[in-house]
Amino acid sequence: VTAEKGGYDSFMLKEIHEQPQAVRETMGARIDQEHKRVILPELKMSNADLAKYDRIYIVACGTSMHAGLVGKDVIEKWTRVPVEVAVASEFRYRDPIYTDNTLMIVISQSGETADTLAALREAKKSNVTVLAITNVVGSSVAREADEVLFTWAGPEVAVASTKAYTSQVVALYLFALYLAQVKGTLAAAEVAEVVDHLQDIPAKIASLLEDAEQVRRFAESTKGVNSLFFIGRSLDYAVSLEGSLKLKEISYIHSEAYPAGELKHGTLALIEDNVPVVALATQPDIYEKMVSNIVEVKARGARVLGFAIEGDTDLAKSVDEVIYLPSTLPMLTPILTVIPLQLLSYFASVARGLDVDKPRNLAKSVTVE
Ligand code: G6P
Repeated sequence: VTAEKGGYDSFMLKEIHEQPQAVRETMGARIDQEHKRVILPELKMSNADLAKYDRIYIVACGTSMHAGLVGKDVIEKWTRVPVEVAVASEFRYRDPIYTDNTLMIVISQSGETADTLAALREAKKSNVTVLAITNVVGSSVAREADEVLFTWAGPEVAVASTKAYTSQVVALYLFALYLAQVKGTLAAAEVAEVVDHLQDIPAKIASLLEDAEQVRRFAESTKGVNSLFFIGRSLDYAVSLEGSLKLKEISYIHSEAYPAGELKHGTLALIEDNVPVVALATQPDIYEKMVSNIVEVKARGARVLGFAIEGDTDLAKSVDEVIYLPSTLPMLTPILTVIPLQLLSYFASVARGLDVDKPRNLAKSVTVE
């Protein structure tokens, strides 16, 4: 079993460390090195058909849904196509508003999640084109969708998803760039800039993995803690949700992710002396506002672990300690931010002596409703 885990003490830790590779494989041949653009040869539909979509639903469960939240912001930013993200167990019982120009994207690591599959089947009954992002060749989702983009993360065994998430986010970046090329909403030079930065991501993930000591210490300090908050704004909020889910799943610490600007409408009442808050401040557009929100929780006694981009000299003044992330384009930062968050949940689980790979009450793949 140790051999299967590649020398790591758990599948989760092994899979966390496989992320540079998983991300590289998922980009793989989809980047045209010479022209610095995205190619998706696996798409069967023509560019003309793709260009007509003016509305997208992203439907998924759990961590895959959180990847979808990053995808929403990126697709909207680069293509100006409105995107709605929905939890599959809700979506399948809704009465969604489909038009001839609606595309549905389903995201599923396993390709077997019952609710996601049911939502896919409902959409197909209404003649909506479904594009699947999945990690398993031959899975039900892969077989039944009209179009498939595989993530090439390799088998994921740990219940808590890690490398599947980062690979899904990469697949969504590639799809968003491709759609932007087809629709002409990004100039060739803009696409080339993103492509360049994307190709540096695996090395940046690797550097975050090498440097886990600070996050390990913070995780150990949460041993007696009952509740922990993750806050962020815009893309940082999407990543907060994933950080919070990961922590709940394997450490059983109650946690909430909150859009930081919304704290004052209720959740701020829960902040008192020494409550740990993980505050993500990686997005330049909203940075000043985020710092004000951090000051608000700090003033109520919170112990704040901030996340900032390297070179940031301000955040350290407002928080207890800072984790610095390698610099990249703001739209690409989520794929880096999530790495220390995964490690935080992993170390918190280990510190409590829990079974990291097999959390209570949870299954890797939920194939019944
Ligand atoms: C389960 C797993 C999660 C996963 C979710 C969706 O709850 O424990 O890690 O995110 O299912 O799975 P899928 O295979 O559809 O991505």
